[in-house]
Amino acid sequence: MTNPAALVFDAYGTLFDVHAVVERCEMFWPGKGAQLSQLWRAKQLEWTWQRSLMRRYAPFSQLTRDALGYACEALALSCDEARAAALMDEYRRLALYPDVADALASLHAGGRGLAILTNGSPDMIAPLVAHHGLESLFDAVLSVDELKIYKPAPEVYRLAAKRLGVASNAIGFVSSNCWDALGAKAFGFRVWWINRGAAPLDRLGFAPDGLLAGLGELPAALPE
Ligand code: LAC
Repeated sequence: MTNPAALVFDAYGTLFDVHAVVERCEMFWPGKGAQLSQLWRAKQLEWTWQRSLMRRYAPFSQLTRDALGYACEALALSCDEARAAALMDEYRRLALYPDVADALASLHAGGRGLAILTNGSPDMIAPLVAHHGLESLFDAVLSVDELKIYKPAPEVYRLAAKRLGVASNAIGFVSSNCWDALGAKAFGFRVWWINRGAAPLDRLGFAPDGLLAGLGELPAALPE
């Protein structure tokens, strides 16, 4: 396998820890933070798939806000506008996983093209990337918002290849979301699945090219 010409990263769950919201959730609803965060994320993702199948796109910021409302209602937690705004604000400052900053710096120093390809709408992803001062590491921060359809629609992955001017099989795609990793594989990227939770592989008939326990392992795992 030759060295990928460019690396394209998923954002939420791969670089940024969506469950970093738990702390603030716990402040608002003690004992419920982890459960709320899990349901919030699950509904946010489910609705990306449902809306894409229905061809009823709405921006990820709206889905995220709507999913928060749903999750609170399902768990009988009262969420006023001030709490919702505070939690949406947390989403624009999500923590990086601990091994991400060093791994990105090392990959960038190696002269490799790096990009983000995310479901996140620009109003969410731009402030988050800026919050961590990562703008200079990435050649592009691409959002599905310009296509109005979510991953794993093939046109989303095609957008990255087109925008970076790199053939699909020369792109290394990196995601912790198994369904996203396999969507990228189905499209034709070479894929590294960051399986932090040691989850089983989704049974979709595809397998990633590489499986890593954390992003910190990526620089050493790339072919010479
Ligand atoms: C993203 C979703 C998969 O960042 O979390 O695209």
